[in-house]
Amino acid sequence: MQENFFIHKEEHSSDPFEMFKQWFEEAKKTKDIKDSTAFSLATSSKGGRPSVRIVLLKNFDTNGLTFFTNGNSQKGKNLEQNPQAEACFYWEPLGRQIRVYGKVEKVSDEESDKYFASRHINSQIAACVSKQSSELQSYQTLKDEYLLFTKENHVPKRPPHWHGFRITPQEFEFWLDGPHRLHLRHKYKLVNNSWQHKFLYP
Ligand SMILES: Cc1cc2nc3c(=O)[nH]c(=O)nc-3n(C[C@H](O)[C@H](O)[C@H](O)COP(=O)(O)O)c2cc1C
Repeated sequence: MQENFFIHKEEHSSDPFEMFKQWFEEAKKTKDIKDSTAFSLATSSKGGRPSVRIVLLKNFDTNGLTFFTNGNSQKGKNLEQNPQAEACFYWEPLGRQIRVYGKVEKVSDEESDKYFASRHINSQIAACVSKQSSELQSYQTLKDEYLLFTKENHVPKRPPHWHGFRITPQEFEFWLDGPHRLHLRHKYKLVNNSWQHKFLYP
């Protein structure tokens, strides 16, 4: 057997937030990753129907992962009925995947206002006119609504249903690509307010 067959070391941080931060920073610095903030967000309805889509991570700290969306969208309705979600990041050039599971809640109006104000005015208008995930008669309808909004010189204001959600992590999984499917998996689980670490078979 080659000496370097098992390439991974067992060392890891005891703090999954620290580990996330490290991997995220490396992803941000990797030229071949176009947008390291994009992640798949899985939600499910009260009845258990799953759905998944990409959203962008707008903030990460020890409180959790924040993304912004329309609360009336499918994901918004799911989260109202069943306030838990899983996020999955995949950074192919680094051979890394991170999954984060947790409870979800709305961020404060102040935080949503602040982020809304930081967006380009055109994106603000788009958020005002889009009834995200509702049926749209034709793409022309959206164009007309957008143009009408600008013609009438409305000042875009954050719609109350457009806001941030924060996932408060209860589990993290860090997956690292390995040769011959001998991937390394670190699982962290919050048990009685402290993070437990385990390895998982690949
Ligand atoms: C790269 C990328 C980034 C996206 N970022 C967001 C986002 O941050 N927020 C959002 O509401 N939708 C975002 N979308 C659109 C969603 O994937 C999705 O189409 C939309 O939110 C409606 O989802 P829903 O009907 O499941 O609620 C993004 C899509 C892509 C491909």
